[in-house]
Amino acid sequence: MRYSPRVDRIAGEGAAAWRIHMEAVDARQRGEDIIVMSIGDPDFATPPAIVETAVQALQAGDTHYTGIAGRQELRAAIAREVEACGGPAVTAENVIVLAGAQNALFSASLCLFSPGDEVIVLDPMYVTYEATVQVSGAKLVSVPALPDSGFRPDLDAIEEAVTERSRAIMFANPCNPSGVVLTREELEGIAEIARRHDLWVISDEVYGSLTFEQDHIMIAGLPEMAERTVTAASLSKSQAMTGWRTGWMVGPKELIAHAEHLSLCMLYGLPGFIQQAALTALGNARGEMDRMRDIYLSRRNRVIEGLEGAGKLSVVPSESGMFLLVDVRETGMTSLDFAWALYREEGVSLLDAAAFGSSTAGYVRLSYTLGDEALDEGCRRICRFVSRL
Ligand SMILES: Cc1ncc(COP(=O)(O)O)c(C=O)c1O
Repeated sequence: MRYSPRVDRIAGEGAAAWRIHMEAVDARQRGEDIIVMSIGDPDFATPPAIVETAVQALQAGDTHYTGIAGRQELRAAIAREVEACGGPAVTAENVIVLAGAQNALFSASLCLFSPGDEVIVLDPMYVTYEATVQVSGAKLVSVPALPDSGFRPDLDAIEEAVTERSRAIMFANPCNPSGVVLTREELEGIAEIARRHDLWVISDEVYGSLTFEQDHIMIAGLPEMAERTVTAASLSKSQAMTGWRTGWMVGPKELIAHAEHLSLCMLYGLPGFIQQAALTALGNARGEMDRMRDIYLSRRNRVIEGLEGAGKLSVVPSESGMFLLVDVRETGMTSLDFAWALYREEGVSLLDAAAFGSSTAGYVRLSYTLGDEALDEGCRRICRFVSRL
C-alpha cells in the first residue's frame, strides 16, 4: 500500500535519538540497576489538589464532549496567566486549549506554513521541531547558536538566514536542551528581525515558570509582537503534569479561530475533568510551581558539584528547567559513543545532544529529574567511567 510522503517528513533523526532512553527504561523495568537521566519527565507527583479536582469532576459526571477551544473559564484563566507573566493584554478569544504544547506547536505549523515556506529554528532545538515544521511541507532552516557563547542565539546569523521564503522564527525560551533563558536584549533583537521581515514568531514556553536566576520574558509582550507571535505552553513541566496532556496556544484571534477548526477535526477538545484540574493548577495550586523550581535549582547545583571530579567533562550550567549539557569532546569520543559506552558500562542513560542540532554535537544532555540519592550515584558512575578513559 502507498503512504503519503508526509510519513517520511515526520520520521527523522529525532525519533532515533530516543533509542538509548527506551533501552534504559526497558532494562530498569526488568529490574536492572539503571539510572535514567535521559528524560524530561518530572519525578514529582502531580500536586494532590489538582488530582482531587479531576477525581471529583469525574465522579460528578464530567465525562462528555466539551467545547472545542476549551472552557471559557479556563481560557480566561490562561489569558490572565499570560498577562501576569508580562505577556500582552489578551482575552479568552486569544487562547485555545490543546493536548500539550506539542499539540499547539503542531497546530501552529499546520495553520501557518505551506510547502515552499522556510521556518528559521534556533539550534539547539527540541527534538520534535524538525517533524513539527516539516509536516506542513515547510523547510526547517536551522541557525546554530555558538557553543562558545554558552549557546546564546546569534542575531546576525538569524538575520542572514532570512530569505523571501521565510515565514517564521521558532525557538523554545527557556531552551531544551541548553536551559538558556533569553534576555530582553536577545528577544528585542529577534522581535526586530521578525517585524522588519514580517515574520511570525513561534515561542515555546513550556519551561517559562522554571527559570532560576532571571525572569522569563514573553516575546509576545514586546511592542507590536502580540499580532505576530504564537506562544505555546502547558502544565506538563510546571506542575508535573506531562501525562495529562494539557497545554495551550495563545495568539491573534484569527489564528485561534483557524486552530479551532483544526482541533475540531483532530482532537475535538480536551476532557472536561482535565480542564477542571487545569483550573486548579492555575489557581490555588500555583505555589507548587515555585516549590518544584527551587528543587530543580538545588539539583542542578548538586550535579555541577557531583561532576567536578570528572576531569574531561565540562558542565554548562543551565539557567532553567531540568536539564544541563555536558561537553564530552575532551574524552575524544563522539557524544553518541560516549552515551552508549556510559550506558553499557555503568548503567546510566544520557541523551546524545547532537540530536538537538549541530551546535550541541559533542555534548550530552543530562536530566536531573531524580532524587538526590540517585543523582549522586549517577554522578559517581559518570566520574568513574570518565576516570577509566
Ligand atoms: C521544549 C519543549 N517543548 C515542548 C515539549 C512538549 O511539551 P508538552 O508535554 O506540553 O506537549 C517539551 C517536552 O519535553 C519540550 O521540552
